[in-house]
Amino acid sequence: RKAIWLDADPGHDDAIALLIALHHPDLELLGVSTVAGNASGRDTFLNAVRLMAAYRAPTHIPLIRGADEPLVKQSKVDVGIHGEGGLGGVQGLPPLSSPLCQNWLHPTQPRTSSPSTSPEPALFLHTLSNLITDRLSNNKPPIHLAVTGPLTNAALFVKCYPHLLKGIAQIVIMGGAAGVRGNRAPLAEFNIMNDPEAASIVFDADIKVVMAGLNVTHQAIFTAELHDRLLSSSKRRPSQNQVIQSDPTPPTSNQTTVSELKKLLSSILTFFAKTYASEFGFTRGPPVHDMLAIVYIIDPTIFHRRVPSPGDLPCNHLFDSDPYAYKDHYHPFHRSPSPEREGEKEEVPITTHPEGKPTSS
Ligand code: BDR
Ligand code: CA
Repeated sequence: RKAIWLDADPGHDDAIALLIALHHPDLELLGVSTVAGNASGRDTFLNAVRLMAAYRAPTHIPLIRGADEPLVKQSKVDVGIHGEGGLGGVQGLPPLSSPLCQNWLHPTQPRTSSPSTSPEPALFLHTLSNLITDRLSNNKPPIHLAVTGPLTNAALFVKCYPHLLKGIAQIVIMGGAAGVRGNRAPLAEFNIMNDPEAASIVFDADIKVVMAGLNVTHQAIFTAELHDRLLSSSKRRPSQNQVIQSDPTPPTSNQTTVSELKKLLSSILTFFAKTYASEFGFTRGPPVHDMLAIVYIIDPTIFHRRVPSPGDLPCNHLFDSDPYAYKDHYHPFHRSPSPEREGEKEEVPITTHPEGKPTSS
């Protein structure tokens, strides 16, 4: 099994990435860290706590609240896509007061402060560096670092522990957009735009970085047909009553049944479909961006590589401070800002999807 650490900002599609990272048989999830992005650092952490509980994550897996703010910019949350708190419309998550959540709210290891009230990037750096050092000294294979939010935590690690990068096989991120327009600005994808300095540090690091950008993730649409398949009772295993972890005993209150899990996933994907339709005009369903970073780690042969063509934008344009500077590259999708929005250079949602209708509000 491949050893993986997930850094995420849940977030509807992060929630699905976490589920796969936890339960795919080819992966061993070593730890999870959270970062501000889709919602505040506090909210993404608490969302992760509830998801870990709902997914019945083994309690030894650490969950750490990392950076609350990007390295230079101010954090910008995405209520339009992920709702208030980052997991809008999601039903079936255990309350924070439930014993299941307490494991990650009050873990047994000593803490300097309560994780629900303050970020702990130092604990993240300490835990991940110890873990990698330990694996290196025991000749264990390098870990895979998946990042499905802004790259703040990953950049801190890269800067603080360059000598430990040999213990990381690759950093696989969901972020960016190669050869297609961005989503939260014509030239910027949300995760990169949230912390561009961190992205720059990670891309420049002496390590293999794999980018699942919008050009890839917009091909992974969770259609209504897939939603029906998720909900319909199937004769294929796992059966409706089978518990998430392979446990032969009947479900107890401490276990999530597959039907409960289906309801939870259905509410995640229903909300995501609604906001992707209203914000970006996606009519076939939402792209499940973040899970692709995990899928790549499981089996990279699923993806095809292609050599960039002359019409593609160079990637460094993604970091340009003026999202309109290269507007001519975007014909026919580009839409000039209306006069009242002239002053706004960022946060203009325009779909990259061929079926989407460009919108500006
Ligand atoms: C990325 O931004 C967030 O909305 C998603 O969680 C994903 O990581 C897509 O641009
Ligand atoms: Ca994300």
